[in-house]
Amino acid sequence: MPAFAQSGGGMLTDQQVEVLAHGLVTAWGKPGLLAGTNPPPYKATLHGDVAAGEKGFADNCASCHGEGGKGNPDIPGTLSGSIVDPAFLGLVSDQYVRNFVIAGFPDQMPDWRSHDSGKPLSDREITDIVAWVASHREPAASPTAGVTPEASSIHPAAMKSAKSMASQRQEPHS
Ligand code: HEC
Repeated sequence: MPAFAQSGGGMLTDQQVEVLAHGLVTAWGKPGLLAGTNPPPYKATLHGDVAAGEKGFADNCASCHGEGGKGNPDIPGTLSGSIVDPAFLGLVSDQYVRNFVIAGFPDQMPDWRSHDSGKPLSDREITDIVAWVASHREPAASPTAGVTPEASSIHPAAMKSAKSMASQRQEPHS
């Protein structure tokens, strides 16, 4: 999905983004849904441990996504495809994978509270699983290559335009 904010090269003003987000939450939000839970942060703050993530994947994800994430030929549809294919990983960011693990997919993939191990996944476990999935990416294809973890959810195009805006601001007024 492309960025819609003007700062990311899209067409929506910050105010329009606010109005849309507010409308979505007001119309479809479920207040209290996460009451009493401790949801993991949207953005990763830790560095992932690939070896721990391999085990985490086997315990939580392989039943659907197949051994080693290579797809599950017994289940037709999307699950017969690999999520460790470098071509797939070259198209998606680590944040994309993290979002899936945290939010799941309605009626098809559990969210962070109910993966196969039967207990909520911690930030540590999620970060490790994402690191293991991402370790299959060809380094040159990484959309987040060279981007620090703190900034890894920012689309490179947005980073670029933010940088060029910053440099424009520094130019003296004519
Ligand atoms: C109960 C089955 C199930 C489990 C368990 C499961 N998933 Fe999924 N996952 C799915 C399904 C179904 C989809 C496809 C949703 C769609 O795009 O239609 C999916 C999609 C994804 C995608 C996006 C793939 C794409 O094509 O864009 C990623 C990444 C992913 N899962 C990672 C994981 C990880 C990591 C775990 C373990 C923490 C996990 N899944 C556990 C069923 C599962």
